[in-house]
Amino acid sequence: MWVNSASYLMIWVLSLLLLSDNSKVEGLGVNWGTQANHKLPPNTVVQMLKDNGIQKVKLFDADESTLSAFSGTNIEVMVAIPNGELNAMLDYKRAQKWVEKNVTRYHFRGGVNIKYVAVGNEPFLKSYNGTFENATLPALKNIQNALNEAGVGDIVKATVPLNADVYESPQGTPVPSAGRFRPDVADLMTQMVQFMSQNNAPFSVNIYPFLSLYGSVGFPVDYAFFDGGAEPIQDNGIQYTNVFDANFDTLVSSLKAVGFGDMPIIVGEVGWPTNGDVNANINNAIRFYRGLLPRLAANTGTPLRPGNIEMYLFGLLDEDAKTIAPGNFERHWGIFRYDGQPKFPMDLTGQNRDVYLVGAKDVKYLENQWCEFNPNAKDMSKLQENMNYACTFADCTPLGYGSSCQNMDTNGNISYAFNVYFQTQNQNLEACNFQGLARLTMKNISTDTCNFTIQIASSALRIAVPAAFSLIITALMYLFL
Ligand SMILES: *[C@@H]1O[C@H](CO)[C@@H](O)[C@H](O)[C@H]1NC(C)=O
Ligand SMILES: *[C@@H]1O[C@H](CO)[C@@H](O)[C@H](O)[C@H]1NC(C)=O
Ligand SMILES: *[C@@H]1O[C@H](CO)[C@@H](O)[C@H](O)[C@H]1NC(C)=O
Ligand SMILES: *[C@@H]1O[C@H](CO)[C@@H](O)[C@H](O)[C@H]1NC(C)=O
Ligand SMILES: *[C@@H]1O[C@H](CO)[C@@H](O)[C@H](O)[C@H]1NC(C)=O
Ligand SMILES: *[C@@H]1O[C@H](CO)[C@@H](O)[C@H](O)[C@H]1NC(C)=O
Repeated sequence: MWVNSASYLMIWVLSLLLLSDNSKVEGLGVNWGTQANHKLPPNTVVQMLKDNGIQKVKLFDADESTLSAFSGTNIEVMVAIPNGELNAMLDYKRAQKWVEKNVTRYHFRGGVNIKYVAVGNEPFLKSYNGTFENATLPALKNIQNALNEAGVGDIVKATVPLNADVYESPQGTPVPSAGRFRPDVADLMTQMVQFMSQNNAPFSVNIYPFLSLYGSVGFPVDYAFFDGGAEPIQDNGIQYTNVFDANFDTLVSSLKAVGFGDMPIIVGEVGWPTNGDVNANINNAIRFYRGLLPRLAANTGTPLRPGNIEMYLFGLLDEDAKTIAPGNFERHWGIFRYDGQPKFPMDLTGQNRDVYLVGAKDVKYLENQWCEFNPNAKDMSKLQENMNYACTFADCTPLGYGSSCQNMDTNGNISYAFNVYFQTQNQNLEACNFQGLARLTMKNISTDTCNFTIQIASSALRIAVPAAFSLIITALMYLFL
């Protein structure tokens, strides 16, 4: 009897161990972009990653305060050289300096676990018209060579995060097995792949089923998700029921066609936005991740590459200062809101339990006050002008077609614009005037679907700037009086 309960205990302990092991999904990372008007402190964000068992992160630069927050955490970090800095890296000495300052400096026990350097960000995007085509490969070579020379090349690999439009299947045979690199970059891609392969660096690609759906009229909605509802595409006996697999395998075929069919591939960005378009909403994001995460946990892979795929979700947080050239959804990719709170249930272990991620802790908010349209204002002639002003300097994308705030009346959307500007300006009272058209309110004017949010308090430095400024002005006034 006693033996029996002991073995039960044993099984219980073992299953606990297995469960806790399970909570860290092999291969799962997140993209942490920081193009937000109000940023969470790096330490808060790193704590969020730890609390959620996320062990890999992809950054878009090598900012010192961000990197320092990873010291001693063992979280794998991909640092990056933005496209605008690629040209500078054509000078080998400059590239060496970059590596010294932004990689090797952190390379010590208790330092930062830097694993990749991303050279550029989607530099061959068609819409860049070739602007970065000449610089990317030489910059990649200089960085990897500098890493090798510094003695960290075995651990730190340089790669180029590419967008999925560097490869395609021909019009006539739109099947993954016919995948080839885009003709205008095919030679370049071949040389790049060759170099990365020599250095055991992985290929990095961003795959966005949402963009396939957004960008092509008549795209079958179900094919963007993983629940198998779409009419399968037949390819040499393989059935493709989702665009993610088809896209990934088009890359596998493109690599094979240039002689590198076994090159490791990491998915640098994958995700679903929650606002800013008819298909960008919480329900679709839930549906997408409920398909993606179990496959990741089960090491499903794709038909041509079964097994584990290293993947970085895009993105960690909403970024209200990103360009909306690609579309209004661009500012709403976060699995967390702007303030680090989870938007929807998400189970990173792939078991699709109805659980939420752990949000950012100890977030400091500005006061509970909002700015709204004043319907008693005397002169309404400048209304449109003022609304445009607010929306130029703050994020009004939730007001757009198909978005969370599109169903308000005219007064409601003016108030939305005024409030988001006021919050972006740290609730500076002068930012709630709009030529007498606005007024302050202590009442939460949010609606069922539209959040009139309170911004997070900026870091001390940012608040200190206007304060220092007014000090200087006061000093000047004394001088002149
Ligand atoms: C290190 O990275 C930062 C941030 O991306 C960049 O501004 C800086 O120029 C880099 N340092 C060197 C020495 O290249
Ligand atoms: C690329 O070319 C198009 C059409 O000529 C132009 O509208 C666009 O601004 C260009 N983009 C860049 C980044 O130069
Ligand atoms: C890239 O190099 C080619 C050949 O030297 C040149 O014709 C082209 O203008 C360059 N492109 C850019 C964007 O600098
Ligand atoms: C504002 O409200 C009106 C409804 O009166 C609506 O037609 C309009 O599209 C809304 N959004 C914006 C950005 O003006
Ligand atoms: C305002 O109201 C909305 C909707 O009820 C709610 O979700 C939000 O938390 C409230 N905001 C504050 C700061 O209380
Ligand atoms: C509004 O914000 C609150 C948190 O303050 C959140 O719980 C709620 O889900 C949000 N509502 C919408 C419609 O985004």
